[in-house]
Amino acid sequence: MRTAAELLDLSGRTAVVTGGAMGIGEAIAGRLHQAGANVVIADPGEQRLAVSDRLNGIRPGSALALDVNVADPENARAMVDDTVDQFGSLEILVNDAGIYPNCPILELDLELWRRVIDVNLGGLFLCTQAAARQMVAQGAGGRIVNITSIDALHPSMVGLPHYDASKHGAWGFTKSAALEFAEHDIQVNAIAPGAIRTPGVGEVDPQTLAAFEALIPMGRMGDSDEIARAALFLASDLCGYTTGSQLVIDGGRLLR
Ligand SMILES: NC(=O)c1ccc[n+]([C@@H]2O[C@H](COP(=O)([O-])OP(=O)(O)OC[C@H]3O[C@@H](n4cnc5c(N)ncnc54)[C@H](O)[C@@H]3O)[C@@H](O)[C@H]2O)c1
Repeated sequence: MRTAAELLDLSGRTAVVTGGAMGIGEAIAGRLHQAGANVVIADPGEQRLAVSDRLNGIRPGSALALDVNVADPENARAMVDDTVDQFGSLEILVNDAGIYPNCPILELDLELWRRVIDVNLGGLFLCTQAAARQMVAQGAGGRIVNITSIDALHPSMVGLPHYDASKHGAWGFTKSAALEFAEHDIQVNAIAPGAIRTPGVGEVDPQTLAAFEALIPMGRMGDSDEIARAALFLASDLCGYTTGSQLVIDGGRLLR
């Protein structure tokens, strides 16, 4: 029987993390790298370079930063090609890239609607298709982890109709991909975070924070690393017989 440490070991595998330059994606990239994977930071944000430099400082030649807009089909294809050119294969894709501009339905215009759907849902499709084609061609299975949201199940507040539609779609797409790719030994799962402190969420003033945290049974917002630890589980051999599942990590928020 393999030991727990062996099941967690990602040495010799390569992971692409979209949105890996900050927030939840950066934390996931760090944990997968710590477990031994080569990591590609696929993100248009300039911080991607600092993240890959830091990881290369720990293990030279183990990280690559790519300027990728997940909503662009050419970018998604090039992301996979550049990854394979650099590291020789692709075993893990984490679809983390996402945006959440607040806007109620009565004020929402088609342009913003399309932008959110294009990035959160279109990007999920394009990156999954490009990566899965590579994984199928390799013939050795793979792992895809999609970062959805508790808003994939239930709206968390007024002002996120485009986001909620995209994340409900992301959860549906996760199940569909899991069904299609099971015969190729590619496991596809989602993580649905509740409120997590990230640069995207920004600095919340103490009064708003207190009101917000009162809705969370565990009484606090989550940390990016609490999502990253779950992503490590789903991306590693610790997770053996799970596909098409969504792991909710929300401090109990959906219980209310
Ligand atoms: N923070 C939360 O409370 C929370 C809760 C539920 C779900 N999520 C989801 O987790 C994911 C990450 O959220 P976060 O809070 O860490 O965000 P963040 O804004 O802190 O970081 C997001 C990263 O994604 C990158 N990105 C944005 N658009 C992109 C694009 N088109 N192509 C590639 N990269 C792009 C950004 O440059 C940034 O580096 C998102 O999918 C979000 O919906 C976050």
